[in-house]
Amino acid sequence: MATAPIQRPQVRREPSAYEALKSHFDQHPEHRPHHPHKWDVSRSDIYAENTWHPIFREMREAGPLHYIPESPFGPYWAVVGHKAIQHIEALPETFSSSWEYGGITILNRLSEEELAESGVDRRELPMFIAMDRPEHTGQRRTVAPKFTPSAMTAMEDEIRQRTGEVLDRLPHGETFDWVEEVSIELTTGMLAILFGFPWEDRRLLTFWSDWSGDTELASVRDLDMMRWEILHEMGAYFQSLWAERMQDQEPGDDLISMMIHSEAMSQMRPEEFMGNLVLLIVGGNDTTRNSMSGFVYQLDKNPDQRRKFEEDPSVIPNAVQEMLRLQTPLAHMRRTCTEDTEVFGQTIRKGDKVVLWYLSANRDEEVFDDPDALDLTRDNARRHIAFGYGIHRCVGARLAELQLKILLEEMHKRRLRVDVVGDVERVRANFVHGFRKLEVQVSTF
Ligand code: HEM
Repeated sequence: MATAPIQRPQVRREPSAYEALKSHFDQHPEHRPHHPHKWDVSRSDIYAENTWHPIFREMREAGPLHYIPESPFGPYWAVVGHKAIQHIEALPETFSSSWEYGGITILNRLSEEELAESGVDRRELPMFIAMDRPEHTGQRRTVAPKFTPSAMTAMEDEIRQRTGEVLDRLPHGETFDWVEEVSIELTTGMLAILFGFPWEDRRLLTFWSDWSGDTELASVRDLDMMRWEILHEMGAYFQSLWAERMQDQEPGDDLISMMIHSEAMSQMRPEEFMGNLVLLIVGGNDTTRNSMSGFVYQLDKNPDQRRKFEEDPSVIPNAVQEMLRLQTPLAHMRRTCTEDTEVFGQTIRKGDKVVLWYLSANRDEEVFDDPDALDLTRDNARRHIAFGYGIHRCVGARLAELQLKILLEEMHKRRLRVDVVGDVERVRANFVHGFRKLEVQVSTF
């Protein structure tokens, strides 16, 4: 029986509200929010200008967690020690990820009044990263089989081939943007393969996840509204893909088909299905992209370590862990306290916002010797918590590690050396930690 073609919704390719606000604040930096507290690490300028190191160092010296009474995001606990973050993530009932309490980033939820005033369509878009047990467990199980070691083996050849093609196209002796030509190209291509996403539209994946680009754009409220507009646009697009896969006689092996045909799917509401797809895209996009940029930046800044990599490719698996530690592509995750509790001598009250700064924990002197140094053969590099810890630890970690390992292996195979020669522009955000632009030249070693 012939099936009707599915119409895909039209989507904007330019985030007009976002761009307008960004341009306003670029011209009027004095209108950006104030951060009166010296340890308010929610300020985005320290990430854009790469000046956060001494602030977190001073905070760690003073203790593993601190109360910041005032910030544009309201008061919050800044947890900066490795041990303290693991302690908190091991208590998911006391420290909730649930959207009901406020979700997983430092941003606040909009109040009912603000929602009514904004007119934004704010239907729930639930994602399991912002759920507690037991809902979290069941929903995570629907996608986990796509990330098992055997599933990774099945994807390896395709990833390797695509990575090789991208590297082979790079112009030797010319300056180009590594973020654009390699990091974005490889991560969107990867997600397109994972979801069976239309190849010609794959750059939409990057555009959609870019809402997190500037956490100081205007008020937190505007940012939240923009975020929702874009999320709903993604949802509408995926709805069309879903409808398409539903018509397939035989289930494919892409993630969307797998989810549609999974056991737990029958208990999932359509908006939960959409929310989880959006989560996988946002979760896997900026993070892997910024690792790919961070790796090249770190090798350029550490010629002795680059030599080690060039002389001995057997360091690659450990190098991936070490460079993830130093980059830490997500600077923080947030929890909300559900009952008064003691943590390392401090009393955290029910309802308090608790921000876990992975960026700081991965430089914790108590765990890592000489923590700011890149050491590709560091023996405990794997103890980094760039993927989080506990029940929410990144479900895509194996896939990210595989892509990063293959990138380094394929670079090595081609004896490709990458020098940073021009502009380095960092993301102005306190959540996504990475690069907007990285001008490089490639040569052979
Ligand atoms: C969760 C980091 C790649 C999908 C997380 C968390 C972090 C993280 C920090 C939250 C952990 C917590 O709350 O304790 C990263 C980094 C990546 C990466 C640094 C790349 C270097 C990916 C990829 C995918 C993905 C490739 C999928 C395609 C997810 C999902 C969750 C998650 C679905 C939610 C897990 C849960 O709540 O149980 N990731 N991620 N991530 N990540 Fe990743």
